[in-house]
Amino acid sequence: MEARVGSVGVLVLLTVAALLSGCAEAAGKGIPALFVFGDSTVDTGNQNYITSVIKSNYPPYGKDFNPPGPTGRFCNGKVANDFLADFLEIPRPVNYLAPEAKGSRVLTGVNFASSGSGYLDITGALFGVLNLTRQLDNFGIVKKEIISQIGEESTDKLLRESIYLISTGSNDFVNSYNLNPILQAKFTPAAYETLLLGTIDTNLKTLYDYGARRVFIDSLSPLGCVPEQLVLAGSKDGSCIEKVNVPVKSFNVGLQATLASIRQQRPDYDLSYVNVYDPLLEAITQPEKLGFKFGNTACCGEGPFKGLPCVNPISDVCDNADDYVFWDLFHPTERTYDILSSNIIKGSGLFVSPMNLEQMIAKKP
Ligand SMILES: *[C@@H]1O[C@H](CO)[C@@H](O)[C@H](O)[C@H]1NC(C)=O
Repeated sequence: MEARVGSVGVLVLLTVAALLSGCAEAAGKGIPALFVFGDSTVDTGNQNYITSVIKSNYPPYGKDFNPPGPTGRFCNGKVANDFLADFLEIPRPVNYLAPEAKGSRVLTGVNFASSGSGYLDITGALFGVLNLTRQLDNFGIVKKEIISQIGEESTDKLLRESIYLISTGSNDFVNSYNLNPILQAKFTPAAYETLLLGTIDTNLKTLYDYGARRVFIDSLSPLGCVPEQLVLAGSKDGSCIEKVNVPVKSFNVGLQATLASIRQQRPDYDLSYVNVYDPLLEAITQPEKLGFKFGNTACCGEGPFKGLPCVNPISDVCDNADDYVFWDLFHPTERTYDILSSNIIKGSGLFVSPMNLEQMIAKKP
């Protein structure tokens, strides 16, 4: 009986959602496009077109992709933005630097991400990455390209109704501040956090001014628990490195406050905070609860916890990446990204706040 009431309730909700979404004109879920900004957690191959040492365009990367083979994703298969595009029933965003990123192909979304980049433009600068300022400038170029195809009014509508995902920030800590005595001398941890949050505030307002209204922004993950950091700290038992996680947790609290303040200043800006930290920490520390066998040891890599790079062809590669939370020393497996993207799509307020993707779709922008 209860089950029946439940499914009727779901039906009613779905109907209401369909009505609220204004009888979508576009295919699928009525979302015209997905635009992606960030680092290697969302890069789907821009790095292949850049002269940079940060690469993943060799086997065994992409071993479980369809079709199998390296794509430039730092993963065995799909990353979170692939799952989001598939859910939205739109093509996966084209890589900004790919030759096919022109004409009608950009109308369903573009991926501007660059592995090694961060919130700060200095992060990854030595590696020739596309910094976040550049990624946003490139979005402006794409906007002009869209206007030239469908006109200003339709472009505004398209950008307003599209979904945006920002996933970055890890490199600002583990590959920059944490390794850089000059930065540490210049900024206390608190001042560095303030600098990052100020940059985020500016960049999110820039995105708003371009016309974006529906943005998901990832928290930092528990960086002190990734295999690379366990090796760096000489961990014996594999427990998380607390001194790496402390500023991460503080940043995540600050990020939520920054987003709340922007929402207050711009009530028509739907900015959702994605809690990557807690679900990933749970997966790492209690892998069996989520059906994983290994929490803090990567599928491909070298050394203890496989916390050294996954190098072709010498590194060990596990048979079944689905058993692992981590694909390489730093990056999740496809299965982990599946869980994290499900949280974005339909997770509770614990995982995505104030709205998940389904709720955002149901609300008119
Ligand atoms: C960010 O990228 C732009 C464009 O490539 C470049 O001009 C600028 O110097 C970069 N910023 C830093 C701090 O490297």
